[in-house]
Amino acid sequence: MLCRLIYRSTVVPPFDFDDLRSILAASERNNPPQGITGVLMTASMQFLQVMEGPSDNINELYRTLQRDTGHEHLRLVEFTAIQQRLFDGWAMRGVHRRLMSDELTTFLTKKYGSDESGHLTLPSTAFLATSLLFDVANTDIIGT
Ligand SMILES: Cc1cc2nc3c(=O)[nH]c(=O)nc-3n(C[C@H](O)[C@H](O)[C@H](O)COP(=O)(O)O)c2cc1C
Repeated sequence: MLCRLIYRSTVVPPFDFDDLRSILAASERNNPPQGITGVLMTASMQFLQVMEGPSDNINELYRTLQRDTGHEHLRLVEFTAIQQRLFDGWAMRGVHRRLMSDELTTFLTKKYGSDESGHLTLPSTAFLATSLLFDVANTDIIGT
């Protein structure tokens, strides 16, 4: 059965681009053979990740992630059966807030809200989380 899992977690510092790169390298290695695709977003010391694929493989990956000390306080946002994928373009597309264009950041903070420092808040409801991930996955995210 094909399913989609979305969760949020808190980054355990220190965390930099190299750490994101090594997560994405592991994803490139491991996700395609498991039929898993998705998007991993980081903003304001949080991760928001969506993964789609066969439910056993998604369960297995989520168990692996729960043991990864690079993040903590994992909170499941959605785990649901799906008819078809929404996020099928990437083994795991990594999106860092600092890599997004100003235009996209303004668009997203208007749509999804920001904290007191003006940083994008990551939604914790399934619909808004899916919508945000879909927006960033389907936009040219790299600023000039
Ligand atoms: C936020 C976060 C997201 C991750 N996403 C994935 C993923 O989609 N696929 C994956 O294989 N590993 C992912 N990892 C890394 C795994 O926890 C684990 O380190 C990795 O799968 C080990 O791969 P290896 O056995 O090939 O070395 C992620 C780690 C973090 C902290």
